[in-house]
Amino acid sequence: EGNNGLDISALLKTTGDVTLDVGFVNTASCQSEITYIDGGEGILRYRGYPIDELAKQSTFLETSYLLIYGHLPSATELEEFDGRLRRHTLLVEDMKNFFDGFPRDAHPMSVLSSGVSAMGTFYQDSLDPHDPEAVEISTIRLMAKLPTIAAYAFRKSQGQSILYPNNDYNLVENFLWMTFGQPTEKYELDPLVARALDQLFILHADHEQNCSTSTVRLVGSSEANLFNSISAGIHALSGPLHGGANSAVLAMLEQIKADGGDVGEFVRKVKDKEDGVKLMGFGHRVYKNYDPRAAIVKETAHEMLEKAGDNPLLQLAAELEQKALEDDYFVERKLYPNVDFYTGLIYESMGFPTDMFTVLFAIGRLPGWIAQYREMINDPATKIGRPRQVYVGEGERSYVPVDQRG
Ligand code: ACO
Repeated sequence: EGNNGLDISALLKTTGDVTLDVGFVNTASCQSEITYIDGGEGILRYRGYPIDELAKQSTFLETSYLLIYGHLPSATELEEFDGRLRRHTLLVEDMKNFFDGFPRDAHPMSVLSSGVSAMGTFYQDSLDPHDPEAVEISTIRLMAKLPTIAAYAFRKSQGQSILYPNNDYNLVENFLWMTFGQPTEKYELDPLVARALDQLFILHADHEQNCSTSTVRLVGSSEANLFNSISAGIHALSGPLHGGANSAVLAMLEQIKADGGDVGEFVRKVKDKEDGVKLMGFGHRVYKNYDPRAAIVKETAHEMLEKAGDNPLLQLAAELEQKALEDDYFVERKLYPNVDFYTGLIYESMGFPTDMFTVLFAIGRLPGWIAQYREMINDPATKIGRPRQVYVGEGERSYVPVDQRG
């Protein structure tokens, strides 16, 4: 029996010639060479490289290349990739009118997915999924322009005018400039912030067949173009069960602080399942060990936040983690911190409002989505995704005209 009272055998069974697997807990939808996860051991590798080596030694640009093209780039390949992305950061000017039409309080994730859908109308020369050159130029356009669209979405929500990209900056620095720069002031880029954000993007860059990635593949399996498939992935990520956990962690920490900061009392409520309270940022469908991304994020959180002085929420988070890791409830259920436990704290310290957190996740996840789409399109074994169902509705019955219905 699962935690929500559902009988697992009813969720996973073979009936006739179809298998019912609600939530796809045990069904692989494809074979992939991109990302390896061993949830029991807490292992995550992109194209064979351990996540902690990439997070500590690589850059988001290089990791994106690795995911999309399958190998670590040579110095020349990396330089060329960087140069191409820098040349494509601008949006066609008409797209600005498109953004002007959104209300100021629009959720930035909605602006982001709409902006990516709109790219299919502005860049019609690169839509054919079976033309490798078209997929390649769409790849570059998406990688280069998503941060620009994300920064537009942010500035719109703040009621601020947009800033054009400054291509002296790399991808991540440029995003920070377009987001936080002021037209009349010299922008002082904080290298610690730029590096931390770069690293967080690496940690989010792929995670095999999660909800948004499966969405990208499913939509793309109908031969929908890359822009439409990625836009669908952004919509999937916008849900609180997928992209929204880090803001929930922040809200939880704020609440504990407001209630007097009693971590022990909060853990008791979680264990007693009082009002359905969960320890947000703990537990994972696949990891039954410490999420390897969480260990890296924890270090970064301490570096970033301790530099800024005492941070009561960070202290609460550390206490909460310690308390949970020592408690039988969490030990028995193999509940460990996931990547979201500390990311919200870091994003907040960088100056991002909570509704931008999922947008940051989308920027990080983009190279993974693109790599998965390209792998799917190029795989001769790909078929249009078309799950079956187990029908549990009425048997056959005869139509009754409306004037004869009771
Ligand atoms: N706090 C308290 N108890 C928990 C938690 C938690 N965070 N997570 C799981 N449990 C308990 C369940 O209540 C259940 O207990 P029971 O056996 O007494 O009923 C047991 O652990 C198993 O939990 P499931 O819900 O079956 O585990 P599942 O793999 O389906 O859920 C999930 C994983 C959704 C991530 C869950 O751990 C959770 O809700 N965590 C909090 C939200 C969160 O942090 N989400 C981010 C995930 S990472 C990401 O998306 C990038």
